[in-house]
Amino acid sequence: MRRVIPLNFGWRYADSFCEDYLKENADETGFVEVDLPHTNRELPYNYFDESEFQFISCYRKHFDIPLEYKGKRIFVDFEGVMCYAEVYVNGVYAGEHKGGYTPFSIDITDKVRFGENNVLSVKVDSTERPDIPPFGNVVDYLTYGGIYREVSLRVVNPVYIANAFFAPSDVLQTDKEIRAKVFVSNPEQKAGETVVCVALKDGDTVISEQRKTLQLTGDDKVMVEIVLSGIRDVELWDLDNPRLYTCEAYLVDSNISDCAADCAGCDRGVDKGVLDRFSARIGFREARVEPDGFYLNGNKIQLRGLNRHQSYPYVGYAMPERVQRRDADILKYELGLNLVRTSHYPQSVHFLDRCDEIGLLVFEEIPGWQHIGDAEWKKVACQSLREMIERDWNHPSIFLWGVRINESGDDHDFYTETNRIARELDPTRQTGGVRWRERSEFLEDVYTMNDFIHSGGEAVLRDPSRVTGLPEPVPYMVTEFNGHMYPTKRFDQEERLVEHAMRHIRVQNAAAMDPGISGAIGWCAFDYNTHSEFGSGDRICYHGVMDMFRIPKFAAYAYGSQKDPSQGVVLEAATLWARGERSIGGVIPLVIFTNCDYVDLVLNGVVAGRYYPARDEYPGLPHPPVVIKESPEQFGVWGFRWPDGEIVGYINGKPVAKKAYAGQPVATRLEAIADDDVLTLGETYDATRVVFRVVDQVGNLTPYINESIKLDITGPGRIIGPSEPTLIGGCIGVYVRTTGQSGEIRLTGRSSRFAPAEVAIRVQ
Ligand code: GAL
Repeated sequence: MRRVIPLNFGWRYADSFCEDYLKENADETGFVEVDLPHTNRELPYNYFDESEFQFISCYRKHFDIPLEYKGKRIFVDFEGVMCYAEVYVNGVYAGEHKGGYTPFSIDITDKVRFGENNVLSVKVDSTERPDIPPFGNVVDYLTYGGIYREVSLRVVNPVYIANAFFAPSDVLQTDKEIRAKVFVSNPEQKAGETVVCVALKDGDTVISEQRKTLQLTGDDKVMVEIVLSGIRDVELWDLDNPRLYTCEAYLVDSNISDCAADCAGCDRGVDKGVLDRFSARIGFREARVEPDGFYLNGNKIQLRGLNRHQSYPYVGYAMPERVQRRDADILKYELGLNLVRTSHYPQSVHFLDRCDEIGLLVFEEIPGWQHIGDAEWKKVACQSLREMIERDWNHPSIFLWGVRINESGDDHDFYTETNRIARELDPTRQTGGVRWRERSEFLEDVYTMNDFIHSGGEAVLRDPSRVTGLPEPVPYMVTEFNGHMYPTKRFDQEERLVEHAMRHIRVQNAAAMDPGISGAIGWCAFDYNTHSEFGSGDRICYHGVMDMFRIPKFAAYAYGSQKDPSQGVVLEAATLWARGERSIGGVIPLVIFTNCDYVDLVLNGVVAGRYYPARDEYPGLPHPPVVIKESPEQFGVWGFRWPDGEIVGYINGKPVAKKAYAGQPVATRLEAIADDDVLTLGETYDATRVVFRVVDQVGNLTPYINESIKLDITGPGRIIGPSEPTLIGGCIGVYVRTTGQSGEIRLTGRSSRFAPAEVAIRVQ
């Protein structure tokens, strides 16, 4: 059987490089101990020089290979190294990889010493090498550096399963199928016989199973196709019920007759006769973009999404599983989305796993940004495309492969080839290719267009038939809008924050009203660090509906309020509730993002009016905002006393939510809120976010307060980033990670003005 041994703790790291570091007995004096995921350089929040992380570094890991593994094959599996890696074992070159967003495996069988200690040395080049996508020109995001995803050792038999693609088909029929392709590797070119078995399981229950005898003729790699047919009584994977099953491929001894029982047995540690096992979660679903919209399992669904960059403050891409998964939860549950685009590269498997689990559709694309390089560059792009599909083809959440470099020009031969590769590897999914030019060559299945026409004026979205210039309607999706058209900081002036939110609302509404548009994916979910050519000069693009810490702007409520109230009632007025914040003064028009049926506005304890969602203006939205356009008399005019306010949201005639606003807000309290109160000791360190915020007497954020917060941490935890941050717009996120022991982490924030705020997080 296979053994997977995580290799994430206790690496030695040097933020410099010389050839001697690759030697077996290299002097490690200048090295420090680090864990993976690791960023090659922790960065400030903003205003840094982006060349700071563009250098060559070295990682070394000492590990034992027990004698009992002699005769097995040993691989080292890297999930992601930015952007070029050269791997040495005991001082001997073992392999290399180009591309920072896709995994690679290196067979180190012939390099390791069994029953002894070995050393892995990795030269990591995190410079922007023009031979590797996305580099060669400017890029509007940072790529950071280091071994920023997990690493493991894999020990397998000489004949083993390299990969398996389990493709559900006929999912809307009573009798469904799984068409499995099992890739068996036989690098020692042994002749003989093995049995390949595929089983569909729900927990421990085997639903269906088939086997095939494979004659090994000495070929290195063989693909075996096995069809499980007549599958009944399985539930579909849907947005509200993302039902997952397990598919497993096994290699077993030919003298085992009852494959299912024995294969199930191997889960319980019974190893008899099972030579290898490859497992993946799958879902039965049919997802297609048609010219008249997107269909999931035959039901038309309006796609509403945002683009996600996988970056975080200070550590760039290097965040562990929990934090990656959390982003999927934010997108689905806080922002009420049904779709995310992994702009502009394959993202963490932890993020994708969570999308599968919660029913969040994914459009995943190859690395790149506008620029197309030379032949060698294109070769790497095609390789990254293969690696992306071969890693991710079993995720039910992914329904579309992005096979063009984001916003690049036409390149007939290159994109004919990327489409060919995608269709050959995975004939079950459509391809898309994100463009910004009208009438660019359409080689994909879905015309995916960045439509930035909305600039606050009348024009909201382009007409798809004009964009494509094609005689017939084709599957069409808007893959970006807003972004640089209206950068907005979370602590910007209120009018700007409102307009920012309304632009998202207008475009989502227009997309829903056009039968030729399957949906719209806004730019973007979270603010991100970027190069000096972009953003606000401080190396931040303030394009998110949330900031870099995932703290909401008003636009986040515009999205969040679109979800069904059964997933949480949203009631948020897009205002600070102050007389003099907006030009001329007052808070009218007052936009309230809510999924309630109607709201009452209460001023100084007296109901001033009842207001309904603006359905006439935004008929395409599930929950249009309430827009109060006329000033109720009680607001008075400049010079009069500003009232306390309250909004009350009603569903089915019952008050279900209330939100109070203080007429005379006073910063009252520093709060600390942790995303998690339990972290776990697992295959690597764990982490969570804690938000420190100053609130007024009714609990609302006071966005213009600037306090520095002195953080104290005790117990088995460490702060990622500065230990004395300053509130940005009234609040700040702090990431805390485990250090390897169990116990209780206590994080306390102290400021000059308020009582300390503290969270306790158990590590187990
Ligand atoms: C697009 C690009 C994105 C981002 C966005 C900002 O052109 O694809 O990566 O730069 O503009 O609005």
